[in-house]
Amino acid sequence: MTVLIKGGTVVNADQTLRADVLCQDGLIAAVGEGLDAPAGATVVDAGGQYVMPGGIDPHTHMQLPFMGTVASEDFETGTAAGLAGGTTMIIDFVIPGPQQDIMEAYHQWREWAEKSVSDYTFHVAITWWDDSVHEAMGTLVNEHGVNSFKHFMAYKGAIMADDEILVNSFSRAIELGAIVTVHAENGELVFRLQQELFDKGITGPEGHPLSRPPQCEGEAANRAIRIAEVLNVPLYIVHNSCRQSLEAITRARNEGQRVFGEVLAGHLLVDDSVYRHEDFEVAAAHVMSPPFRSAEHQAALWRGLQSGNLQTTATDHCCFCADQKAMGKDDFRKIPNGTGGVENRMEVLWHHGVSTGRLTMNEFVAVTSTNAAQIFNVYPRKGSISAGADADIVVWDPEATKTISAKTHFQKVDYNIFEGMTVKGCASHTLSQGKVVFADGKLDVERGAGRYVNRPPFASYYEALKIQAQRNQPTPVKR
Ligand code: URP
Ligand code: ZN
Ligand code: ZN
Repeated sequence: MTVLIKGGTVVNADQTLRADVLCQDGLIAAVGEGLDAPAGATVVDAGGQYVMPGGIDPHTHMQLPFMGTVASEDFETGTAAGLAGGTTMIIDFVIPGPQQDIMEAYHQWREWAEKSVSDYTFHVAITWWDDSVHEAMGTLVNEHGVNSFKHFMAYKGAIMADDEILVNSFSRAIELGAIVTVHAENGELVFRLQQELFDKGITGPEGHPLSRPPQCEGEAANRAIRIAEVLNVPLYIVHNSCRQSLEAITRARNEGQRVFGEVLAGHLLVDDSVYRHEDFEVAAAHVMSPPFRSAEHQAALWRGLQSGNLQTTATDHCCFCADQKAMGKDDFRKIPNGTGGVENRMEVLWHHGVSTGRLTMNEFVAVTSTNAAQIFNVYPRKGSISAGADADIVVWDPEATKTISAKTHFQKVDYNIFEGMTVKGCASHTLSQGKVVFADGKLDVERGAGRYVNRPPFASYYEALKIQAQRNQPTPVKR
């Protein structure tokens, strides 16, 4: 299929230029002014619009089995919803259960994801440790295109990784040229606070944020950072929600440590008052971890994004409908944790980021696409409008407006955390692998068209680290 995107303004992370974009055989064939449409080409009129790299959401959980249920959004519906909002690739997570064989879990997730309609790839969670896990990490990096491993420092009694697991896994990752990622919350403290609150009779969703204060997150972020510092491994901290974790990241980066931070659209735009809503359904719909925070933390997160100390935006798209959230009607600890947003991330960030002057258009591209592509080593195949890149593109109409609602969204969940928000600026067309898959408000997708994207390890950077480590080797004292 050949598509010519004509008359638009190309916005990359590093520059803005008037150019047409020719897409052929799934790739960008040319970027330049006055390109002619080859015979039979579909022409997309991008006059007055921006042509940007398709979004990469580096943190989603489609059909995740979690807390006694399974997330309502699957890989087909979730990737389709992403395309409707201009997101053309997701990075989801393989999460083995305690003691589950890692390779078995990996193949299970690969099978679930085969129905995806856009490209996807996986971080793999390390939830327990023995020699087989050590070996599986090598197999995943060397044979299956995995270059990032995830560690949940919370969810005690389920998938929590303690310090021993972190140290083992971080050490193995550096040998393999992989990056490590963490969900930073002190799981022991959360467990204790949950119990205390419940014993005091606080059983509703208002107990959720009380049991997960920002200090729990700051402590875990700092611990992961210091472990990574000692072991000399690059670290990516997912869903930073508070000033404390941002400060830990900022401090480490100022010291020259290779630490990256992600922020969720939800944490930037939804505050913690939602947990005090009188309707259980509304309050429970917002239960996710870490929880939404106060305005003070939201302002800090925006500053983190503007200063470059936070590099990526995500959604942690993990949907549960009201009947699933009701599992925790009498006990907030049993409300399945998770909220959605893969469809809305780019438009809410444009509206509240670019239109407010907080972010330039180029910074918008960086934080919605390019930085994730670079951190997870798929750049410039993804995250770039340039010849040779995958033709994953969003044509963005800065004048279009829409009001977000669960009644009209494509996402397979009965609630939208941005319900009622009117945004100006949204995707008019989305191209995936060079095919127009979203236009005029309608999806035209094919089940299974999405491809698994291999991500190679960070070989050259790790070689440099090894040389540096050798240089810093202590010598034994001769006695
Ligand atoms: O509440 C959340 N975030 N659910 C999904 C699992 C996770 O912690 O990312
Ligand atoms: Zn998490
Ligand atoms: Zn998550």
